[in-house]
Amino acid sequence: MGHTVASRQQVSPATAATTKVTAMIRVGVIGAQGKMGAQTCRAVEAADDLELTAQVDVGDDLATLAGAHVAVDFTHPGAVMDNIAWCVSHGLSVVAGTSGFTEGRLATVESQLARAPEVGVIVVPNFSIGAVLMMRFAAEAARFYESVEIVELHHPTKADAPSGTARRTAELIAAVRSKAGAGPNPDATVDQVDGARGATIEGIAVHSLRIRGLVAHQEVILGSAGEILTIRHDSLDRESFMPGVLAAVRAVVNTPGLTVGLDSALGLA
Ligand SMILES: NC(=O)c1ccc[n+]([C@@H]2O[C@H](COP(=O)([O-])OP(=O)(O)OC[C@H]3O[C@@H](n4cnc5c(N)ncnc54)[C@H](O)[C@@H]3O)[C@@H](O)[C@H]2O)c1
Repeated sequence: MGHTVASRQQVSPATAATTKVTAMIRVGVIGAQGKMGAQTCRAVEAADDLELTAQVDVGDDLATLAGAHVAVDFTHPGAVMDNIAWCVSHGLSVVAGTSGFTEGRLATVESQLARAPEVGVIVVPNFSIGAVLMMRFAAEAARFYESVEIVELHHPTKADAPSGTARRTAELIAAVRSKAGAGPNPDATVDQVDGARGATIEGIAVHSLRIRGLVAHQEVILGSAGEILTIRHDSLDRESFMPGVLAAVRAVVNTPGLTVGLDSALGLA
């Protein structure tokens, strides 16, 4: 499901820090004091083939990252684009876990990468392997059902809605349904309170719940006459994201260009 977009334009590289990394991978973490950043620092320190060389948070100089092969960004949608621009222009590859990526933002990153042909950026809406599989299963099922809607449920300190995972799931489902010639979801609503039917992403309704006590959860509900298929994934602890984060770190250092999704890093693409 993830797609790789190779940088097209060959211009002189910045400080080609990413040229075929085969030994210890040096990793910097941006947003290192945050929930995901701190967990990533611990996971990198525990991995034999990775070395944690920088921990950056608000107010720290990004120059601290110099010498790293890859930066992992878990910051804020308002900060991640500047961080990526800095990293790419300094020859660092990036694992971007921060949410809020739109097609426009991906296009911006791609144009920056065109000027740094040895650098890789992987944007991953969800590092959970279960969530990646949930997206694949939902896309697989989408053409067989008349109706499909997405419900995503998160902790109330999340800045963006809907989640990056829900957006991506909707895009994948919409692509499959369009290819299969499926019509729009049946819906007789003519009178509604604003927002009652959720946000619409590429024709798919997405409903966002923010509830204290939740971590990250998503249901894809598919229906046809006489049957319902519900595909649900629950992230119960941020630790579940770490195998995916480390797989992305190992993949991106030797994968120039823009990659979206974890599938290729997991050998699923
Ligand atoms: N892709 C995934 O699987 C996944 C999983 C969980 C969270 N997320 C996303 O990751 C991001 C971070 O989530 P979190 O729960 O760790 O948030 P958090 O608020 O706990 O941590 C964010 C950290 O980033 C720091 N920060 C903000 N702006 C910065 C900047 N310009 N430079 C350096 N540091 C900066 C903050 O000070 C904070 O320490 C969010 O966008 C969230 O939606 C993605």
